[in-house]
Order: sequence, then C-alpha cells, then structure tokens
Amino acid sequence: MKKNHVFVMGSYVTDLTARASHLPKPGETVFGQTFRTGAGGKGSNQATAAARLGAEVSLVTKVGNDAFGKLALEHFKAENIDTANIAIDEEQPTGSALIAVDDHSENMIVVTAGACSTIKREEIERAEEKLAEAAIVVTQLETNLDAVEWTLELAEKHQVPVLLNPAPYQSIPSEWLKKVAYITPNETEAAQLTDLPVESEEEALAAAEKLYQIGAANVILTLGKKGCLLYNEEYKGKFFKGLTMKAVDTTGAGDAFNGGLAYALANEVPLTEALEFANTVGALAVTKEGTAQAMPSLEEVEKQLSRSAAL
Ligand code: RIB
Repeated sequence: MKKNHVFVMGSYVTDLTARASHLPKPGETVFGQTFRTGAGGKGSNQATAAARLGAEVSLVTKVGNDAFGKLALEHFKAENIDTANIAIDEEQPTGSALIAVDDHSENMIVVTAGACSTIKREEIERAEEKLAEAAIVVTQLETNLDAVEWTLELAEKHQVPVLLNPAPYQSIPSEWLKKVAYITPNETEAAQLTDLPVESEEEALAAAEKLYQIGAANVILTLGKKGCLLYNEEYKGKFFKGLTMKAVDTTGAGDAFNGGLAYALANEVPLTEALEFANTVGALAVTKEGTAQAMPSLEEVEKQLSRSAAL
C-alpha cells in the first residue's frame, strides 16, 4: 500500500453549463447569462479534487475519439492525473452533462455517459498493478455498473479499502455494501438506497443505520451545507457541521467532498478529522464556478481549516 495514492475508476464527461436567473420548467425556454465548457463527470471530478490536494492519482475512465476526448486528456495532464489507463472508444462519443445553474446556485443536470458507460473488464485489469498499490480505491455509479463490480472484485483481491460514492443513484446489489469500507450517499441517494424518507436529522440517522446494518462499515451521509453524518461501529450517528460559505455554484461539491475524503484517508488521517477536512474541501468548491475547475488546493483548504479553528 502506497500512502497518498488514490485509485479512481469512474466517469469523465464534458460539462456544458449555462447560468440563468431561473431553471426552465418543462416546455419553457429561458435566456442564459453565461455558458462554459469544462471537465466534469463524478469520477474525473473526484480524481481532480484529490490530485489538486497533492495525491498521486491513477484514473481509469473512457472517452471518445473526438474533440471532447482530447480536452479530457489535456485536463488530466494539467492536473497531474496518470493517463496511462484512460481508454478511448472509437464508436461512442465522450460523455456530456447539460447543466443549468440558477441565481440561487441550484442546478439541474442531464448526463449522457457515452464512452464511459462502456468500460470493459480488461480496461480495469490493465490498471491492476496501480490499484493494488493504492491506499484507497474510489468509485461511483456514473459508469456501466459491471465496471464498478469488477473494480470492487479487484480491490477485494488486493485488500485495498473502497470508497463508494453511490451517485447518481442506480439500484445496486446489497452485497456491494459489505465490500465497501466507506459509502457516501447524499440525502436523495440515501433515501433511494434504503427506501426511507431522508428529510430530517432523525430520518438521516435511520437511513445511515440501515446502510450500516446491511453491511457498509462506515456510512457517511452528506447533508449539503449542513455537513455530514457518520455511522459506524464507534459512532452510532455523529454529525459534522458544514461551513457557511457564499455559494456561487454547488455543482461538484459532493465530488470535492469525496476527493477530499479520499486524499485524507490515503494519508492515514483519522476518519473524524478526515471528515472535517472533506467538509472544508466541499465548502470551498461551492465558492467558485464549475466542477473540476472549482476544486481547491491544499493551501486553500489549510487556510480555511485554520480560519475555522480560530472561530
Ligand atoms: O457531480 C457533478 C457532476 O455530475 C458534474 O460534473 C456532471 O458532469 C455530472 O456528472
């Protein structure tokens, strides 16, 4: 196991983001104020967050043989993410996400996973050596699900702990929960995974307990600006308060949290401290526009942590 090495198997998609005063209703056309194209996808965003903090990051994903695929490779190189295991699909286009963000920084997203929904077993196995030496494996549900299953199998074979961010929600076998060391649903995903309502703190606690009973060793339920909740053997429901920030764009905040958590765990930071750290990474990401480009540096996170400690 190599400290500071984060292995990610997940999606890359191009984010096409328009800002408008309000989000369109079905059938409505609204004028946008700004438009930007940027690197996105939950896998790539989480990899970028960890890399910006200083982790050595190996990423397995797949892009198309097109202009967006070229932009993806440039992004990985610029962010010091190992590109040795990025597959290119000759038929499928690079995935895309159509994102609208309103004046209250609420968003709506349509993601078309494209090439990264066709990741093959051999494309993951090609990276087996990297996975085996990593301190943590991070994955989500934005690729084809069998790719997630193969990643879990390889991680189990090499005894590398897995952080599963079950986003966007897809129905998964409950067996998977027993294979992951950390599961990080948001409130919506926790409700979908457990079939329980998750609106109040009590309901969040009940859903976290259910996921723990199913078999996830550490359930970390993210609660947006309210912070997060940990449920494990030691803490049967510990809340970590969120930071109050002026939000510009909340898209990608969950990815910042997961990337930050992976970085901290890969550096052997105790879990409760790692969660304070991840909360801070997530909070800083909402202060900037975009997803991958909004991920903070270690210096920014450390500054914010000392500001919070001084309060
Ligand atoms: O989590 C945010 C990400 O989800 C965006 O970057 C978009 O690509 C979607 O996949």
